[in-house]
Amino acid sequence: MGAGPGASPGCAARRGSRGYAVTRPRRPRRPRREAAVIAVGGRSRGGAVVTGAGQGLGRQIAVRLARAGFEVHLTDVDADLAARAAQEIAAEIARQAAGDVGGSQAAGPARVLAAALDVRDQDACRRVAASAVEESGTLALWVNNAGVLATGPAWEHTDGERRLMLEVNALGTMHGTVAALEQMRPAGRGHVVNVASLAALAPVPGEAVYAASKHAVLGLSLSMLADLRVAGEKGVRISCVCPDGMWTPMLQERLDDPGAAMSFSGVLLRPEQVADLVMRVVERPRAVVTAPRWRGLEARVLDLAPGLAVRLAPLVVRVARRQQSATARRLRRVSPAARAPAARP
Ligand SMILES: NC(=O)c1ccc[n+]([C@@H]2O[C@H](COP(=O)([O-])OP(=O)(O)OC[C@H]3O[C@@H](n4cnc5c(N)ncnc54)[C@H](O)[C@@H]3O)[C@@H](O)[C@H]2O)c1
Repeated sequence: MGAGPGASPGCAARRGSRGYAVTRPRRPRRPRREAAVIAVGGRSRGGAVVTGAGQGLGRQIAVRLARAGFEVHLTDVDADLAARAAQEIAAEIARQAAGDVGGSQAAGPARVLAAALDVRDQDACRRVAASAVEESGTLALWVNNAGVLATGPAWEHTDGERRLMLEVNALGTMHGTVAALEQMRPAGRGHVVNVASLAALAPVPGEAVYAASKHAVLGLSLSMLADLRVAGEKGVRISCVCPDGMWTPMLQERLDDPGAAMSFSGVLLRPEQVADLVMRVVERPRAVVTAPRWRGLEARVLDLAPGLAVRLAPLVVRVARRQQSATARRLRRVSPAARAPAARP
């Protein structure tokens, strides 16, 4: 997989030493601009692996990490998605570098490596972690972003759907975290960012199995972080990011799905907003962050009174479905295909 014959004009492809498809932007044509780019972007902040980064939130995180100077190892279970995203990001960074003679602080080393990774495979996660160290010298960051959602009551799912959500969301996060820590602990530094959800904090009717998988992500992240501190390891960090509903392909097909109503019950975030939050956590690690913050607070208050939360569920779901319909009407007024909500200024 990777940047093959279809690579965009701004990119060159080569094979990394471990069989990765490496997408690296061509040098800017004008030498003076190239010098500016090297001056600004020559410092690599180390390797950063992002899982499930072929689209949606993961792709937005990958773009920001590349701009911030990380060597991004962009992975996805869909190899073509990963390769395309890596090419586009590298081309974007190259364009930015070529245009920023004065030197943009955002310009990174512009090295984006694409690889297929199914996070359900522990050994495959280990191989990606090892090759990130080999290619980039160090594994500074690992973002467990890959996730899947099936909606409806748990009893309506097939066995396969229930298993898939737990395997990708919960086990996949555990595989990635373990693989990353195996590299980071001996190095004495590194940061794992786990993308959970507000569904990690409170009951979510219509998304019970998904919520179970995200509760697992939060429990795992905080407990492993505590284990690191108990072991006296201060240089390795684990953070958990819990966003509200996001307008990504995960929800774009679910505007009319009553099982997904709760995802539309609060603030429908743009993935760019959540990726910005992830970057703030990368720069200033925190154990748990929610987006928006007031929704995190609301979920935590409900979690303090689980009996009340469950009694309120029928009412909350009715309101959520109304909000979902209103969102669908609003989006379809803007675009009949309802592909994306209008970006906020
Ligand atoms: N969209 C939302 O409303 C929302 C809200 C809160 C949290 N989240 C979480 O954010 C993360 C990103 O979701 P998104 O909204 O961008 O979804 P998305 O469906 O747009 O992207 C998910 C990506 O994960 C990849 N993936 C699926 N299974 C995989 C596997 N086994 N191994 C590796 N990659 C795999 C997919 O190919 C896809 O590229 C997920 O963890 C999701 O649970 C999403």
